Parts: sequence; C-alpha cells; structure tokens
Amino acid sequence: MKTIIVNLGANTYPIYIESSILESAGFLIKRHLPNAKRIFIVTDSNVVKNYLISLKEKITAEGYIVTTKIVKAGEKSKNLNVVTALYNDLVEAKLTRSDAIVALGGGVIGDLTGFLASTYLRGIKFIQVPTSLLAQVDSSIGGKVAVNLPAGKNLIGSFYHPSLVIIDPAVLDTLDPRFFLDGLAEVIKYAFIKDEKLYQKLLAFKDLDNLKENIIDIIYTCCMIKRDIVERDEKDTGERMILNFGHTLGHAIEAVCGYTECTHGEGVAIGMNIVTKISEKLGLTDPGTHRRVITLLKKYNLPLEVPDVNREDLFNAMQIDKKNVDSELNLILLRKVGQAYIYKTDVEFFEGI
Ligand code: GLY
Repeated sequence: MKTIIVNLGANTYPIYIESSILESAGFLIKRHLPNAKRIFIVTDSNVVKNYLISLKEKITAEGYIVTTKIVKAGEKSKNLNVVTALYNDLVEAKLTRSDAIVALGGGVIGDLTGFLASTYLRGIKFIQVPTSLLAQVDSSIGGKVAVNLPAGKNLIGSFYHPSLVIIDPAVLDTLDPRFFLDGLAEVIKYAFIKDEKLYQKLLAFKDLDNLKENIIDIIYTCCMIKRDIVERDEKDTGERMILNFGHTLGHAIEAVCGYTECTHGEGVAIGMNIVTKISEKLGLTDPGTHRRVITLLKKYNLPLEVPDVNREDLFNAMQIDKKNVDSELNLILLRKVGQAYIYKTDVEFFEGI
C-alpha cells in the first residue's frame, strides 16, 4: 500500500492508495476514527450498484451503525437544496459531532459531502473515497469543498480537510471511458505545470491500456505533486493557483454547455490548449511548448478547440469565475512544459477565440 501524508498541522491526514483497498476500508476507518459510532455514506446513483453495498458491509462489520444516502449523479446535485435535504437526513440518522460522513463517488460527491460535513454541527469528520480518476488525482485532496450557485460553479464553499482519503484504483475498471479521459486531462495538467518527467512518461505509453497498467504510479505521482503544493499554499493564495491551469476557459465552457455536453476534463483540455496557443504567440511561453501541449492532448484524444457556443456567454462565465478579482484575472500560463506561473491579466486575453 502506498501512503502519502498531507502535513497540515492539526489537519494532517493520510492518503492510502492500493488496488482493492476498499476491502479494507472498514478497518482503516476504525483505525482512524475509533470513537465514532455512526457513519453516514453519501454516494450517487452511478456508484451505488458497484460499491455501496460492499462498503456498507465492511464498515458495519467494524461495529458502526451505517446509514446511506444516494443522490442523483451529476453536477446538478451540487446545490444547496440537496445539502439541506442531506442535513435533515443526518439529523434523522442521529449523527453527532463524534461521528463521520463518507463521500463515496467522484468530484461532485466529494465536494458536496465535504461541504455538508464542514457545516453540519459546525463541522464533523469526513472521509474521501474517490471513485473517479479526476477525484483520485485532484478533488479528493486539498480540502476544497463547495456547492454551485446558478451564477457559477463552486461559488459557496470552504477549505475543510478529510480525516483520510482511501484511493482504490481498481474501481476505475468500471468507470465510463469518457470519464476516465476526464480525469486523464487533470493528470496531463500535472505534467504540464510541474513534472516534465511525467510528460515524457505519458507520451511514452504505447496506448491507453498501457497507461492503465501504470495507473497506481500515475495516481501516486499526481497526489504527491498536489500534496506538496497544498502543504506550501493551503488556502490558495499563491502557488496553489497553478492547479487551475486551463480552468478559466474550461469552467466557462462547462458552464455554457450546461455541464453535460462537455466534461470538466474536456473543458480543461481545451483551456490548456487555447491558453498556451495565445501565451506562446504573445511571447509569454517558450517557443515549441504549444506543440508539445497539443501532442500529448491529441495522443489521448482529448478535445482541443472551443465548441460552437455563444462567445458572449463564454466571456460572461469567465467574468464571474472566482479567479477573476476586481476584473483582474490570475491566469496560469506555462513557461515551458513542467513549469507554470501566474500571469495577471483580464478576460480580454481570450479575445478572438
Ligand atoms: N483543484 C484545484 C485545487 O484543489 O486547488
């Protein structure tokens, strides 16, 4: 089993990575939360059929009283109405401050459940059990929890860390191929912003199957990169912002497409391509970098071009983005592959896309 410790003082927590580790989830929860009596699992309608029953059994076998709640799969569930319904479920299940909530699912479930845990009874413990590649390499780590508003994604939230993260790469076998690629865009992002060696590795794999054979190492590498960044900048006021490479345009594309036609990873892939195309033209990125960005994105069939959506809607969506403060945008650019930096600009940067 690979273990990574995220060192954040009183909020320090471990990330465990191992194929089929879900079999030991009850034992791990018992080890870290021996005083809890009740565990409340939140999952979604996609995950439920594969893992909920078995996880519930494993946790129950450790002597916990387990309650489960299934929310509708998809970004639309990440809202305050769903959270309110869940608060009532928690009260009904008699969860107290010494108990804990488990987030079993992808990024939506992790963000939603983390937000729920951060506010119920002024905060109770929670455990991340990410079941998508995106959640395993990014959203389950670092404590960003949030729900959406009609005006934009993740506009209500906080920093609230889990007590532990349990990553089982075997669950990716049942992931829809489109959502595997969704997470792969974030993996590629880590290579672009921080790790030239990872870039070379991803380029050298024969194909997607060959990459999947190495998925444990890939997840570990990404978690280590994110761990190091979060330890240096927990509250996202400096270096952590580089994790948003490709996200300004990516989030806007997702929002304008209604979160269904375009996955998060697809939006980010397009964002990484377009921003680097522009920055290299402006002399802000070393020559040849854009070519290298395209080469890797193309290798894994990720989209490159902005879809045929209303450009005014796209710019409005970028204006409301959290990264846009007083019309100043902290845009992430590449100096070269493996090195990112923050560039202060505004949404006019994207003019003409
Ligand atoms: N997903 C970006 C971050 O955690 O900062």
